[in-house]
Amino acid sequence: MRNLITLFDLQPDDIREIFERARILKSECRNGERKPLLAGRVLTQVFQKPSLRTRLSFEAAMIQLGGGAIFVSNKDAGLEGREAAADVARVIGGYSDVIVLRTFEQSLIEEFASCAGCTVVNGLSDESHPCQALTDLFTMEEALGKLSGRKLVYVGDGNNVARSLARACAMLGVSLAIAAPAKYQLSAECLKQIQDRFPSADITQHVDPESAVQDADVVYTDVWASMGQEDEKDQRQAIFADYQVNAALMSAAAPGAKFMHCLPARRGLEVTDDVMDGPASLAFPQAENRMHLAKGLLAWLLADD
Ligand code: CP
Ligand code: NVA
Repeated sequence: MRNLITLFDLQPDDIREIFERARILKSECRNGERKPLLAGRVLTQVFQKPSLRTRLSFEAAMIQLGGGAIFVSNKDAGLEGREAAADVARVIGGYSDVIVLRTFEQSLIEEFASCAGCTVVNGLSDESHPCQALTDLFTMEEALGKLSGRKLVYVGDGNNVARSLARACAMLGVSLAIAAPAKYQLSAECLKQIQDRFPSADITQHVDPESAVQDADVVYTDVWASMGQEDEKDQRQAIFADYQVNAALMSAAAPGAKFMHCLPARRGLEVTDDVMDGPASLAFPQAENRMHLAKGLLAWLLADD
């Protein structure tokens, strides 16, 4: 049984296969063709945090693939103390072929994976956001062609999205530079885990955003305060003030560089309107691709069972 808890659950060839499935399914979808590859299969989503893209993209993906999708809030699932998480996982697993979970703790996703008896997918935790990073590199390949040798520069908080991007870049031969205040960069342990698995990974960390974006094919950013960090919002706004992706920073990247954002964006903070809505922005194709990638992923996870 396949799970996606972190990107380390996949091999680089698995990612290429998921991308190929997503690419074919996207092109078929554009031509009005929707093959019921997962007819009769059930996706259940349990989210402890809000979501627009992740929840809807998985629901739409499952509907288009001929299966069904159920959404359960944290409260309704009983994860706020009504019963043990392991019991909830076993019950949901009895009704489902795949569970997508959005949590604070990564350990809750791991617990589901060990108890549910069905496929479990990380739909974002404080630790990582693997489905986002897969979509991001799929979108980057669509826009730029061959990924290997490209340079992605992530400007902002070294958070769940940055961690998954670092793993995905290492797996697909993309150089990654992270520009963040020293305290907000990826930990040495996170980098070591990547380097141990993928010794040729090219990941550098910088404090100065302008020097980091030199030669960038893509400049990427995310919110400065993630879900669960609402209390730190004002403090972080001051700390990250010099890390805004604006026209001046984009002009320090390679000519023709693209802009990416996982969304939701705080316009006027980590990114300006002109960059978000400008010709270099891939933010909305990225959001649409969440669904195409989810279809490729679900097909890869379940279709050959
Ligand atoms: N990018 C992303 O995961 O968006 P949501 O939080 O809306 O799901
Ligand atoms: N880092 C953000 C990503 C949202 C998709 C968060 O965790 O809130």
